[in-house]
Amino acid sequence: MKIDILSVVPGLLDSPFAHSIMKKAREKGLLEVNVINLRDYTTYARAQVDDYAFGGGAGMVMMIEPLVNAIESLQKNTHYDEVIFLTPDGETFNQSMANQLSLKNNLLMICGHYKGIDQRFRDHFVTREISIGDYVLSGGELGAAVLVDAIGRLIPGVLNDETSALTDSFQDGLLAPPVYTRPEAFRGWTVPEVLLSGNHKLIENWRHEQSLKRTAEKRPDLLNDDML
Ligand code: ADE
Repeated sequence: MKIDILSVVPGLLDSPFAHSIMKKAREKGLLEVNVINLRDYTTYARAQVDDYAFGGGAGMVMMIEPLVNAIESLQKNTHYDEVIFLTPDGETFNQSMANQLSLKNNLLMICGHYKGIDQRFRDHFVTREISIGDYVLSGGELGAAVLVDAIGRLIPGVLNDETSALTDSFQDGLLAPPVYTRPEAFRGWTVPEVLLSGNHKLIENWRHEQSLKRTAEKRPDLLNDDML
């Protein structure tokens, strides 16, 4: 999968894909991430990419021309399955969207800044608008990093069996159960005995019960009647 990210602050994305699982995914050739500087596509003086909002009001608006120059240039080499604009007024990102997007070949993510981007670009080029939560960030870059991580780890071959995404929270609509590792006892705090029993059926049942309990306690909104 290839993910291109268009940004006015590309340096913000130097690190998120350079470590751990995203690094391995790139090294294995399963994920390609390119961060593209929008300022390379402006024809305005001093690499300007934003201007005052028509009608007045505080804050600058990202201009349509640099965005269109950039996307049309990138589209010469790549057909994008989705052009995603990261914005607090988009649909809220969740695991099911990550699953869907992990099946695509090419994604373009557009990071907004200032007061937003010219609506005409949203109307004519963006295919999906996504928010990572109900709060406002200074730009879309951290949102794009969240999406790339959540999507990238679902690409077949990125995770091995031990880190398999199938047992993650949300993957079956429930939160993940508690986990323990050595030592068996620490300061008198012991590990639930069932986990040491070697009985896989019992362990699986226990984990499912714990998932239900945890979800009911922390996120009752995720439960529906047929899960109980
Ligand atoms: N840009 C600013 N705030 C954002 C958010 N909550 N999600 C995605 N992109 C954003």
